[in-house]
Parts: sequence; structure tokens; C-alpha cells
Amino acid sequence: MTVDLKAYLEDRRAMVDAALDRVLPPESAPPANIHRAMRYSVLAPGKRLRPILVVAGAEAVGGRADAVLDTACALELIHAYSLIHDDLPAMDDDDYRRGRLTSHKVFGEALAILAGDALLTLAFRLIALEAARVAAPTTVGAVVAEVAEAAGTDGMVGGQVVDIESEGKTISAEMLDYIHLHKTAALIRVALRVGAILGGGRPEQVEAIGRAGRALGLAFQIVDDILDVEGNLAELGKTAGSDERKQKATYPSLHGLPASKARARELIEETKRLLVPLGPAAEPIRALADFVLERRS
Ligand code: IPE
Ligand code: IPE
Ligand code: MG
Ligand code: MG
Ligand code: MG
Repeated sequence: MTVDLKAYLEDRRAMVDAALDRVLPPESAPPANIHRAMRYSVLAPGKRLRPILVVAGAEAVGGRADAVLDTACALELIHAYSLIHDDLPAMDDDDYRRGRLTSHKVFGEALAILAGDALLTLAFRLIALEAARVAAPTTVGAVVAEVAEAAGTDGMVGGQVVDIESEGKTISAEMLDYIHLHKTAALIRVALRVGAILGGGRPEQVEAIGRAGRALGLAFQIVDDILDVEGNLAELGKTAGSDERKQKATYPSLHGLPASKARARELIEETKRLLVPLGPAAEPIRALADFVLERRS
């Protein structure tokens, strides 16, 4: 990655971190415990991939970062909610996340559930208000509906349901792709799409960026599965081997590690091919695609 691109990504990440701090309720506001729980999970050191993709999606079509920052935060809040609930004893039952004890370990299960609920709700408030500031009324409705679809039973929640129902079973390759495309790729795809929509992208640009997001999102979850086998707590900030312990349907368990790595590489190539029509303005998204493949955390 060039020095400029590295600086771009660091700059956008700092913008997102500052915006997250701004949009989250202060710990001093009552009821303090839930605000503490929300800030604990969101402000923990995550990669901020989804909010940076919102910004990069807007900028790839000539839009401005400051016009999509609250929507970028919203995508991170929905992601953080999904992580808090994913780690609950009733789901993946994990003790570490982002290098810290999981929310339910610190605040108890009731507050962890409610913190997730509150983050999801706050996310839609932010999207609705920001879209109303920067876009036409029909676009506001379209953006809210797109994010809702990607987060709900046609998206992330749907994937999580089939992920849980597939524990301990051998499922088909098609079913595994269904899980990964829904539980993970849906939010990554919509992050790029809403960035491009609010950034004023033409319909064909939004389409192209969305298709690239789908491939990138699938690659992202395949790499997540690989890192669960090859990584460790110090690098990942979460306990490795969690998938094997829960007998999860994963890429390495179904296809083996070499085929999983090859598929992730192919999907990153496909992501870049799909971004060709966007020209040089999509360079940061290409750099993020390389990062998704090379990451160790
Ligand atoms: C973890 O996502 C959950 C998956 C969808 C695989 P990330 O790996 O993006 O987690 P953070 O945001 O960096 O903590
Ligand atoms: C989670 O997939 C996807 C979500 C929607 C949270 P995983 O269960 O593999 O994510 P990690 O490995 O716990 O981060
Ligand atoms: Mg899970
Ligand atoms: Mg998990
Ligand atoms: Mg995982």
C-alpha cells in the first residue's frame, strides 16, 4: 500500500473514532450503566471496516466524508450490537472480544442484550436524521430500508439463525455460502452501497460497488473462519478455536484450509474486477480489499 493510501485510511479511521465518541450517549447520562456498556463495546479497538467502507463508498463516487459520517457510525453500531449478541452464552458463548472481556462478562446478560438493542435503535435514528440532511426524501426512505433489510432476517439476523441451526451438522457448500453472505457480507455490501447512494453515485455506480461489497464480504467471513483456526487471542482479541468448540459450519471445516485460502484470494480479485468501472476514486476500497485478505486480526 502506498504511503498516501495508508494515510488516507488512518485519517478516515480517526474521523470515524471521533464521530463514534460524539454520537454515543455520555456515560454520565442516565441510565448510566447501559451507556457505559454501549461505549465499552463500540469504542473498544475494532478495525472499523464497515464505517470506513461507508466513507470510501461515498468518496469513490465524488461524495464527501462529512456528509456520511453519522451513517458510517450507524453501520459500526449495528456491527457492534451483532458482536455483543453473537458472544452471548446462548449464541457463541465467547469471553473475549476486541481484546477485552465480552459485554455480558462485564455487565451481565440483561445489560448486554439491552446494549445491543439500544445500539441497533440508535443506528436507525442516526441514519434517518443524516439522510434527511443530505438527501432527497425518497432517498432517505431507500437508505433506511436498505440498511434494515441488510440487518434483518433477509440479512445479518437471517445468517445468524442458520449459523446457529447448523452447529454440529454437515451442511452443503450452498448453505454455508448462504450463512456467510447473510451474517457478514450483507452489512459490508450495504455499507458500501449507502455510502455511494448518499455520496450521490449514479445507479450503475451503486450497483457495481454493491456487487464488489458482496464479494468482499464473503471473503471477509472466509478469512474470519481461517483466522479462527490459525490465529490466537493476542492477535485476534477474541479466543481462537471458538468455531471448532461450537462445531460451527465454516469454510475450513467444509472445504479445508488450502481451498478456503484460494477462495478468499479469488474473491478479492473479483472485488477488484467489479470496482474497475469506478476508476481511481475506488483506490481506497481496493486497498481495504487487500487488507481483508492479509489481515491477522
Ligand atoms: C467480526 O468482525 C465479526 C464478523 C463478521 C466476522 P470484525 O473482524 O470486523 O470485528 P472488529 O470490528 O474488528 O472487532
Ligand atoms: C459473526 O460470525 C457474524 C456476526 C454477525 C456477528 P462469527 O461468530 O464467526 O464472528 P466472530 O468470529 O465471533 O467475530
Ligand atoms: Mg457467530
Ligand atoms: Mg462468534
Ligand atoms: Mg468467527
